[in-house]
Amino acid sequence: MAISTKARQMRSEGLDVVDFGVGEPDFDTPNYIKEAAIAAVKEGFTKYTPPSGIPELKAAIVEKFRRDNNLEYTPAQIAVSCGAKHSIYNILQAVCDPGDEVIFAAPYWVSYIEMVKLAGGKPVIIETSPAENYCMSPESIEKAVTEKTKVLILNTPSNPTGTVYDLEGLRGVAELAVKNKFYVISDEVYEKLMYDGRRHYSIAMLGDGIKNITITVNGVSKTYAMTGWRIGYAAGPEDVIDAVTRIQSHNTSNPTSISQRAALQALTGPQDDVETMRAEFEERRDYIASRFDEIETVSYVRPQGAFYIFPDVSTNYGKTFKEKRIENSMHLADYLLGEAQVAVVPGCAFGYNNCIRLSFATSVEKIGTGLNRIKQALSNLK
Ligand SMILES: Cc1ncc(COP(=O)(O)O)c(C=O)c1O
Repeated sequence: MAISTKARQMRSEGLDVVDFGVGEPDFDTPNYIKEAAIAAVKEGFTKYTPPSGIPELKAAIVEKFRRDNNLEYTPAQIAVSCGAKHSIYNILQAVCDPGDEVIFAAPYWVSYIEMVKLAGGKPVIIETSPAENYCMSPESIEKAVTEKTKVLILNTPSNPTGTVYDLEGLRGVAELAVKNKFYVISDEVYEKLMYDGRRHYSIAMLGDGIKNITITVNGVSKTYAMTGWRIGYAAGPEDVIDAVTRIQSHNTSNPTSISQRAALQALTGPQDDVETMRAEFEERRDYIASRFDEIETVSYVRPQGAFYIFPDVSTNYGKTFKEKRIENSMHLADYLLGEAQVAVVPGCAFGYNNCIRLSFATSVEKIGTGLNRIKQALSNLK
């Protein structure tokens, strides 16, 4: 937040800042989706809906899971919320009692830790490494499990690393969850943004044992460039979904009626735009990775999905610029913004100080300009 506030301020002063901070597609929502929302407004579809979503949208989500993930759910196992963030928040509120432990990996998406705390839970963070592709190993999970473990949060493809769990990794997590009887929240919002011909696997598809304790979360934000519409959804055991629905009915009531119609169109309409955007992201991934290859003091794990790269810049820590010492990711992000006019997110926001996060949901031209500046700025450190 600090970096983006400063970047905004610099831009308002007329400075040309290259922004790698944003976590949303730079594409516009496809027109046929917008048209569905306009039609909804015109026909007066502007009233409360059932708290967990309109039946047509739930039916479309059931079909989506069948089509894309080989998962069978009933509409009673689906709850639509105001974004996947809201889905995860509601699930944690539903399943966590005070003191319950929730396991997830660092680097983590910034909101997990706060959402766990808001639910009265205790975050239990597993440090992962580039050598592990930033994925939790079964051994590390086993060490973290206690009698109080209630939930494990899995995020594949991952924000901020762009890495993906392979089938074997998912099997390991599933076995431990079934054996130790904890829930898995599987955050799959980047499922459609996979590269190198890779396929996305949902952990819940590995058998009834794991499916019965997994809540799969997805949404339309990243897949259809619909971040502002605020529609996400969860699928899982009926009792958890029922609790999620009751919690939601007392805080937000239903997600916006108009956005639900738009999401229905997104899920049931032509899917060509999804592939067009994915292919464009893959080109940008290739380009940004090739540009980082030119910088000796930086290493990275090649992103396999999502639209982030998470380079390790820690060999620059301890260096100075004009007597100012760069000690950590916050200092480096601050330096890049101040001296190179490039906004990146410091790794410390994701619980991982060695790295910085860049979103490549921006044009190749801007990526080129930004990387030229980063390369120069890093070479100016002594
Ligand atoms: C890993 C992850 N999960 C969930 C979300 C939430 O997405 P939304 O609430 O827009 O559906 C995001 C958004 O940045 C994310 O990166």
